[in-house]
Amino acid sequence: AQLEPTVLVIFGAGGDLAWRKLVPALYDLYLDHRLPERFTIVGIARRQQDDETFRSHLRQGVDSFSRRGKSADEPWREFADRISYLAEDFTQPDAGALLGRRLQELDEGTERPNRIFYLAIPPGLLEAAAGMLQRLGLCRDCQRDRIVVEKPFGRDLDSARALNRLLGEMFVESQIYRIDHYLGKETVQNILAFRFANSLFEPIWNRRYIDHVQITVAEKVGVEERGGYYERAGALRDMVQNHLLQILCLVAMEPPVSFDADEVRNKKVDVLRAIRPIRPEEVHQLAVRGQYGAGQYGAGAVPGYRNEPAVAGESVTETFAALKLNIGNWRWQGVPFYLRTGKRLSAKVSEVSIVFRPAPHQPFPAAAAEGWQPNRLVIRIQPEEGIVTRIQVKQPGTRFLLGAADMQFRYREAFRGTPPEAYETLLLDVMRGDATLFMRADQVECAWSVVSPVLEVWETVPPTDFPDYRAGSWGPEAADLLIAKEGHSWLQPV
Ligand code: BG6
Repeated sequence: AQLEPTVLVIFGAGGDLAWRKLVPALYDLYLDHRLPERFTIVGIARRQQDDETFRSHLRQGVDSFSRRGKSADEPWREFADRISYLAEDFTQPDAGALLGRRLQELDEGTERPNRIFYLAIPPGLLEAAAGMLQRLGLCRDCQRDRIVVEKPFGRDLDSARALNRLLGEMFVESQIYRIDHYLGKETVQNILAFRFANSLFEPIWNRRYIDHVQITVAEKVGVEERGGYYERAGALRDMVQNHLLQILCLVAMEPPVSFDADEVRNKKVDVLRAIRPIRPEEVHQLAVRGQYGAGQYGAGAVPGYRNEPAVAGESVTETFAALKLNIGNWRWQGVPFYLRTGKRLSAKVSEVSIVFRPAPHQPFPAAAAEGWQPNRLVIRIQPEEGIVTRIQVKQPGTRFLLGAADMQFRYREAFRGTPPEAYETLLLDVMRGDATLFMRADQVECAWSVVSPVLEVWETVPPTDFPDYRAGSWGPEAADLLIAKEGHSWLQPV
């Protein structure tokens, strides 16, 4: 269906997110004819600049980050005509006059467009921006006006609650879109399709057949230019509280009755609620942190975290985190979920490995079973999107020997073209008013409750052995010990 006329107001329009992700995603949607016919972007930031300067800055971002690469002149000009810029400091008590006027102009003479206020700003500025919208009544229509809030959503349970309360006083919950870009990734959404559109796997998706689950989100990049933000965040806040726990929810949730936003989110919240709380005295057994030191990728040397820009020389911020979680419910009792994420690891790979229990009885001669490995189903989120099932087969030859073989589904081979970027999907969903892939207030709070005990203990007991892993490795040794306690080991990407 044709989307309703929309104006998208980006707060923090001069920032990295707008440049690297939002505008390139919007431009790709535009080229695919997916945007509403009447669509306008208004950028707001403090800096003085004219529309033309702003547009050419955005074009550089599009050229570097859009799915299609460098933009052609003609379509870019048409798209850029829809973009304007306002220099406003929304932390000032009388701010907002320019924005109010611009929105009024856009309303005139036609159907009033829907308004989306995208708050791509640091958490400390959220209150000022939302307060301005409320003071001026710019986001009053709860059917047609929406705000999008980026992570980090608070820095612990208390601050997330306070933020939810604050936004709750200003807007209706259905107007608030808390974004977690992992939920927009094609392969993350595919977990739902895979689990609930097939009858093959659901019967074995439980403690009777599954031995344990591993969720890995490994990055090769370091902290890059984001030291200022990252120093206050760390891997647990930056990745586990949101992206990894959301993936865990999709893997572990019960089948939803429908695709209704609240139904899906209820089922996910159930998972978070069922995660057995980590007691402070268990933190050292169930959680591992690490920080990268200098290292090597091929011939290229990279500095340690403490030598990155805007990072303290004695920083105790973790760039690696691993957790063992137990979900206390009927389906998952006794099945450990191991989560790990880190920067400057050996490879860039995000995947979920479901490791199955051994067959109940092995009739083969002992020699045959030497090459035996458990069945494993790997959901590859990126970069090689797909699903791999590792099965046991007879190795060809005159002797009866077992070996592992993979059945593969690869996005790139099965479907032509590149899938949309997460932000394309999510921006379209906000325009449509579909909140299924966004975080509800209670979801965010439950996710903070899961990681809070670990955060608290880590904050009170600083690490003494940082840096404890080499850039280019698979993380600290303690992470291997965490999983080895139950006879498991981290699986190499398939
Ligand atoms: C962001 C984190 O949310 O996700 C970054 O703040 C991280 O630190 C990024 O690099 C990873 O996202 P992706 O899409 O590259 O896997």
